[in-house]
Amino acid sequence: MKKILVIHGPNLNLLGKREVNVYGEVTIGEINEDLKKLAKVKNVSLEIVQSDHEGVIVEAIGKSSGKFDAILINPAAYTHTSVAIRDAIAAVNVPTVEVHLSNIYSREEFRHTSLIAPVAKGQVSGFGKMSYILGLEAAIELTGK
Ligand code: DQA
Repeated sequence: MKKILVIHGPNLNLLGKREVNVYGEVTIGEINEDLKKLAKVKNVSLEIVQSDHEGVIVEAIGKSSGKFDAILINPAAYTHTSVAIRDAIAAVNVPTVEVHLSNIYSREEFRHTSLIAPVAKGQVSGFGKMSYILGLEAAIELTGK
């Protein structure tokens, strides 16, 4: 069975309470449940991690080689700052899909740059919970399934 690593970056555990005007009322639990449902239908297995810590995310990516067939990541604020996460993705040979709930290009200018995008296979941005669903569909395709 193909394995996909799902990574939620900082503050995404606060979804549902956090800036609901931007991110809506969806919770991380609801997103994870929908991802698990899709994974079941597609017969892939998921490991899901949320961390507020850059190093934890870097380590999870670093250990993914040979263990996972694709990565689905919402790097959250680290999208715009983390050379370390970018380098980790570039270092491992695991195809990676970047997702964002909000459209980062329609928001503040500092969000318009993703340090992750150049090392990702692609990016889905702006569709709320659907960004994750579409991103997982893409990640599954990338596993060769
Ligand atoms: C986000 C967008 C980022 O700019 C922000 O820092 C987040 C969430 C999104 O999913 O829309 O925390 O990644």
